[in-house]
Amino acid sequence: ALRASFASKAQKENRNIQYSLQPQATFKVAVLGAAGGIGQPLSLLIKMSPLISDLHLYDIANVKGVAADLSHCNTPSRVKDFTGASELASCLKGVDVVVIPAGVPRKPGMTRDDLFNINASIVRDLVTAVADNCPGAFIHIISNPVNSTVPIAAEVLKQKGVYDPSKLFGVTTLDVVRANTFVAQKKNLKLIDVDVPVIGGHAGITILPLLSKTRPSVNFSDEEIEQLTVRIQNAGTEVVEAKAGAGSATLSMAYAAARFVESSLRALDGDADVYESAFVQSNLTDLPFFASRVKLGRNGVETLIPSDLQGLTEYEQKALEALKPELNASIEKGIAFAQKQA
Ligand code: NAD
Ligand code: LMR
Repeated sequence: ALRASFASKAQKENRNIQYSLQPQATFKVAVLGAAGGIGQPLSLLIKMSPLISDLHLYDIANVKGVAADLSHCNTPSRVKDFTGASELASCLKGVDVVVIPAGVPRKPGMTRDDLFNINASIVRDLVTAVADNCPGAFIHIISNPVNSTVPIAAEVLKQKGVYDPSKLFGVTTLDVVRANTFVAQKKNLKLIDVDVPVIGGHAGITILPLLSKTRPSVNFSDEEIEQLTVRIQNAGTEVVEAKAGAGSATLSMAYAAARFVESSLRALDGDADVYESAFVQSNLTDLPFFASRVKLGRNGVETLIPSDLQGLTEYEQKALEALKPELNASIEKGIAFAQKQA
């Protein structure tokens, strides 16, 4: 009797396990650069999403072990590994969201633009494969310099005749995550309530937090505004220096990228109330790409949120004008690179 009851308990548990392994949704997500500092924790976080049925992990090396390890988590998605250019096409076939954290990170003393020479061609080649194999996918670009890699991706997609500006995103979620954290700390606010819009781009002064538009409404002294703005703009460098040569932000980036993936999947799943910030093709300013809050839907960006740029303080207006030449130069550098290669 004991054996019988044990057997039935085991069978029941087995049924439960099988049930919990059944995917609830059918979205397929690929991470390109999955064995890296961002790729690994990002893959772990999105392995926990109930909206993912298949998680495809791609890298040029070391991805087999990462995938074997992750595949033992009893969360719904099936994990598959893909190594090297010859397996990239099969990694991308049928994928709904492609996240790209492939490329080299900064060391102390470097700017993000110093990564251009290596990362520009990595992004160009990966996006070429995306265009060939899953042209309708949302593309999340994390690789720096984002201010140039997103325009490169756009040019590649145009050259391939599959550019949909609503589906190409430079991931700037980490700037918002940092702004929310630093403001909440400074003003002793409940973190969950704080939302600071961050606009512009993703490097130095092109990162512009709009502290006057913080929700809930907060009063800052001029000194606090200056100090918080500079800290948010230099937060990446703060981590690069603390890591002292071992790379840049990986864990907070993985957290931020996972949030952006989850928001994209909710939008793809038909949730009508999804807002995130991203560096996208934009008509909010005279620059062709600009980071702002966007409303996401099944087809990507549904609307940009222009109200964030209205009624800026004098400080913010000046900072906006000051960032434009640098951001424009980075955008043009990316476009010129991609056009020269065509
Ligand atoms: P990392 O060196 O730890 O990992 C990068 C991974 O990319 C490695 O596993 C490497 O093998 C892989 N890779 C290199 N070339 C590849 C290719 N052609 N195809 C596929 N994979 C390839 O670096 P990391 O710390 O994960 O950072 C990755 C990138 O993300 C850097 O460019 C960094 O500057 C950027 N980043 C952006 C943000 C942001 O807010 N957007 C934040 C942090 C880091
Ligand atoms: C960041 O903001 O942390 C990333 O862009 C990485 C970096 O080089 O600072």
